[in-house]
Amino acid sequence: MPDSEPLGPLGAGDPTAPQWMPPEIDRTVATPARIYSYLLGGKEHFAVDRAAVEQAAEALPVRDFARVNRAFLTRAVRHLAEAALDQFLDIGVGLPAPGSTAETALSVRHDARIVGVDNDPIVLAHARAHGGEGATVVAGDVRRPGEILQNPEVRARLDFDRPVAVLIVAVMHFVPDEDDPYGAVRALMDAVAPGSVLVLSQVTSDLDPDGIHATAKAYARSSVRTAVRSREQIAAFFDGLEPIDPGPVMLSRWRPDEQVRDGDDRIGMYGGVAVKP
Ligand SMILES: C[S@@+](CC[C@H](N)C(=O)[O-])C[C@H]1O[C@@H](n2cnc3c(N)ncnc32)[C@H](O)[C@@H]1O
Repeated sequence: MPDSEPLGPLGAGDPTAPQWMPPEIDRTVATPARIYSYLLGGKEHFAVDRAAVEQAAEALPVRDFARVNRAFLTRAVRHLAEAALDQFLDIGVGLPAPGSTAETALSVRHDARIVGVDNDPIVLAHARAHGGEGATVVAGDVRRPGEILQNPEVRARLDFDRPVAVLIVAVMHFVPDEDDPYGAVRALMDAVAPGSVLVLSQVTSDLDPDGIHATAKAYARSSVRTAVRSREQIAAFFDGLEPIDPGPVMLSRWRPDEQVRDGDDRIGMYGGVAVKP
């Protein structure tokens, strides 16, 4: 889309809006889903999202953060699908871009069932119009796990008597402690069968506190608050679960493949994969 696009809520009948886009989408405020789409070379973003990225990029290599995170997600999903997991609950699924949970899981197992959850209305609208890359996509918020777990479309698609991979990848840095992110993860993992798996990553301030602080300022004008955490605080999301080797680590060190580049270990994000006993 051109940078000269009009700002403001689209309004019904806006001729510049794609037909699938609901009128309540607000183009004056950047959102994480649209920012991430831009970072990954996707198509669904507005001038305000691109401006937030360019501001953040002055302080941190934010495109590398997105690439390294997405590559971790792809490696984790491929590992789990190859290990016979066939159900995926991807909370904070985002807009379509290469290496998604659905694309990766279905490339290994054509019978994989994937439910994507997101609280940005553009994600749901896009999936309704374009098919969700093979995933069922529903509206939901990780801060309200009960609603996700009771959602009839989630229950219809996933069998909670069998193991489910619960993905919360690059989402928890948008959930401050007062919103009880640890309680949300616990509620989700309590609801799934033994053998289920948590895949989680998030930004840390351990490596470059100044860069993270400056980036948080760019996000301050977006639709969300930010919450960066230390390695110990991120590892605590996995409490009570059994880590799959190598445990919570810098993302580039989690079962790296040939896509990992020199310098990726300087990208300040931790993550891991762990099994419910
Ligand atoms: C940085 S993107 C990550 C996308 C994907 N999980 C990945 O790692 O490749 C973060 C996504 O989480 C969503 N999100 C942020 N806060 C959320 C919340 N409280 N509940 C559900 N989704 C949320 C955003 O809308 C966005 O689509």
